[in-house]
Order: sequence, then C-alpha cells, then structure tokens
Amino acid sequence: MALWGGRFEAGVAEGTQEFGASLPVDRHLYREDIAGSKAHASMLAAQGILSEEDRDEICDGLDAIQADIEAGEFTFDIRDEDIHMAIESELTRRIGEAGKRLHTGRSRNDQVATDTRLAAKRLSREMMEATLELRRALVSAAEAHATAILPGYTHLQHAQPVLLSHHLLAYAWMFHRDFHRLHEAYRAADVSPLGAAALAGTSYPLDRRMASLSLGFSDVVPNSLDAVSDRDFLLDLQYAGSVTAMHLSRLAEEIVLWSSSEFGFVTLSDAFSTGSSIMPQKKNPDFAELIRGKTGRVYGNLVQLLVTMKGLPLAYNKDLQEDKEGMLDTADTIIKSLGVMAGMVGTATFNEDVMLKACETGHLAATDVADYLAKRGMPFREAHAVVGHLVLTCEKRGCGLADLTIDDFKAASDLFSDDIVGALDIPSIVAARVTEGGTAPHAVEQQAKLVRHSLITEEAVLAGL
Ligand code: ARG
Repeated sequence: MALWGGRFEAGVAEGTQEFGASLPVDRHLYREDIAGSKAHASMLAAQGILSEEDRDEICDGLDAIQADIEAGEFTFDIRDEDIHMAIESELTRRIGEAGKRLHTGRSRNDQVATDTRLAAKRLSREMMEATLELRRALVSAAEAHATAILPGYTHLQHAQPVLLSHHLLAYAWMFHRDFHRLHEAYRAADVSPLGAAALAGTSYPLDRRMASLSLGFSDVVPNSLDAVSDRDFLLDLQYAGSVTAMHLSRLAEEIVLWSSSEFGFVTLSDAFSTGSSIMPQKKNPDFAELIRGKTGRVYGNLVQLLVTMKGLPLAYNKDLQEDKEGMLDTADTIIKSLGVMAGMVGTATFNEDVMLKACETGHLAATDVADYLAKRGMPFREAHAVVGHLVLTCEKRGCGLADLTIDDFKAASDLFSDDIVGALDIPSIVAARVTEGGTAPHAVEQQAKLVRHSLITEEAVLAGL
C-alpha cells in the first residue's frame, strides 16, 4: 500500500502506477532528498518535536541508504511513486517506528520544492563551472593567434579585417554573461521552502531558519503558498541555459562554416571530427553540428515549463512533477556541450594563411579609403560615394582596390596622394582601429587581459558558492 493509502479501499488502476510515478526522474535527486530529511529531523529534535534517539536513528539510516544507492545496491521500486516515498519507506523498513516520525510537520510539497531548489543550485553551479572551461579555451586560442587576421563579416559578406583573437574573444564575452545569468538562477533557487508543509505552514513549532541554514540556503521563502508552488527559479535556470545554448550554437555554426572547403579557416582535430560510412574522404564537424542541434531540446525545456506553469492555481498541483526532467536534461546538455566545445576549440588548427588570403577579396579597405578622404576634409558621405565608384571600377576590371594605380585614385579625387597605398595594407587597417574594444592588436591585448581578470573573479565567485 502507498504511504498515502489509508483512505483508499482499492489500489490504483493498472498503468496509472507507472504513469503517475516520478521515480525514474527524481531518483537523481536522492542526495538532496536525504540532505533535506536529515536537516528536517535535526530541526525537529532541536525543537523537542522528535527525540534525539529518533533523530540519530533517522540520520544514520538515511546515511546507510545513501551509501547503498551510491554503491548501486538500492533497488528502486516504481510502486514507491517518487524518491521521497522510496527513501522514507526503506527507512521505515530498516529502522521501524522512528522512520514513521520523520514526516512530522512536513509534506511532500515542501519536500520536493526543497529537493528541487537544492538540485537547481548544484546544477547551476556545475553549468557556471563549465562556462569557465570554454572561456579558458577561447582566451588561450586568442592569445596563441594574437596576430592572425581574417575578414570580419556583416550579412556574411566581407566587411572589414579583424584579428582572429578579437573574433574569439567576442564569444568569451557571451559565455561571461551566461556565467552571470546562471549565477542569478542560482540565487533565485537559494531560498528555502521547507516548513511550508502542504501549503499553509504547520501547527508544529518548526524553526524554518535552522533547517534552511543547515541546508546552506540564504533565506526562507516568506509565503508558504508561494513556497510550494513557485518554480520561477527553474525558469531562470532554463532561460540562462537557453541563452548559453544559443551562444554555443552560434559558435558551432561558425565552426561548421569555417571548416568547410569554401572557408578552410579551421581544421578540427581528429578527436573532434567524424568520418562518413560511405565517403572515405570525409571529415565532418559532427560535434559542432550536434551542439547546434541540441539547442532545440534546451529551448524546448524552457517552453515546456512555461506552458506547464501558466494555468496553475495555487498552491501545489501534480503538474509541477513535470518540472524536473527538463532541468536535468538542460543542465546535462549544457555541461556536456560546453565541455565538448572547449575541447574542440582547444585542439583546432586555425589556418592563418587562408584567413589572410581571404582578406584579399571583398574590398576590405574601402572604409579606410573613405576615412582617408574624410580626414583630408571631404564630408564622409561624399567620400563614401567616391570610394563606391572606385569599387565599381575594380568590379568592372575584376581587380581589388590595391591593384588601382595612383592615377586612378587621383582621377577620383585630388585629395589622394601617394600615401594612399599604405592605407590599403590589411595589417595597417587592423592596427588603426585603436578604439577601446576595437580590433587593433593593443586593444585586443587589453581585452584579453579583461577576460583573464574576469575568469579570476568568477573562479572566486564559484569558490564562494
Ligand atoms: N513526485 C511529486 C513531484 O515531483 C512530489 C510531490 C507530490 N505531492 C503530492 N501531493 N502529490 O512533484
């Protein structure tokens, strides 16, 4: 008979047992469930609601169950419905009477909210850690290729030359923001619902703050109805995970493009590529594609939870049981994707010659030629038109701006003199963009220092969680 079976005359219909059970999912929360129960029992004893002997038997019994689960010696039975009842039933089987007293002043509603918040804290911490691993790989690759230049793109058309390190660091900043979004999700989860009981609090003299403190929460949820029905902290985690997945997907997309024959900017190591079962020559960026593809399931988890929550009246509803699978899946997907991406970036070969060669097409110096005229007094809009005509001439002749003669330039404007040739040199164009956050080597070096510094700060944030 189920732990709640007292008022029933018959068992549940065949099929609903499995349908209603969350054990296959929430068994992954056994550590949190045991920690929550030990904190609850200790608090009950401190408040004189439970004897010290009962508390000790409960805590020892729970420790033994945890050891058995971790040794793979615990048999989960779907008839127990969820992790809370699986552990409580086993505890009672092992220690008898004392086990039956554990649930005093507690409901599965505040119990599951507590377990889920503890798990959300653990998972967001692990996700934060994984973002750092990828950022270290990105900044190391940036530093290792400090002088490499490639075409910068807008609309996927050649625009202006940029340093490869600048390009890679753009991604490092995305994952930096993800770290902080995940930290916000961590903070949202870091409030204890324990003691809210089923929905209204309890008549036992519980010390909610004691239990909260011993579980490492920063505060207690101030409203018992909100405590058992709020899953905003999971939405925060899902959103932070979704943005991280989007950033991973953009980087993956660039790796797929860059490793194509058309680009050839990057060669992935064998360890992060796969072959084709029919075409012997193939080397495919499968793992970048898979990371891009996994974005769908992460977004799906966010939308699933939003939809699950939208019609729920206060307070606990069984619909909430659908909250944990997505949390676990998103965290697992993001942690693994970040790890694989870090390995891929860290072992990739960036083909500097191919990138530089690509800068020869697309008239990348055009903006600088217009700036040249504007700096000599021509209004920029006019200069833009003059250079536009020069580009048209190049297109007709099938050449680049660097192939035009000084007479061609002078015919377009008498503001041109011989030093225009220097303005067409790709490294000089890059070196001239000295704005803070710009692509000049010194500016990018400064930027890399900022990324390194933020990594140290964030390692300290993690160590404090
Ligand atoms: N397995 C349930 C869940 O994950 C635990 C809480 C069930 N509470 C209840 N009153 N049925 O949400």
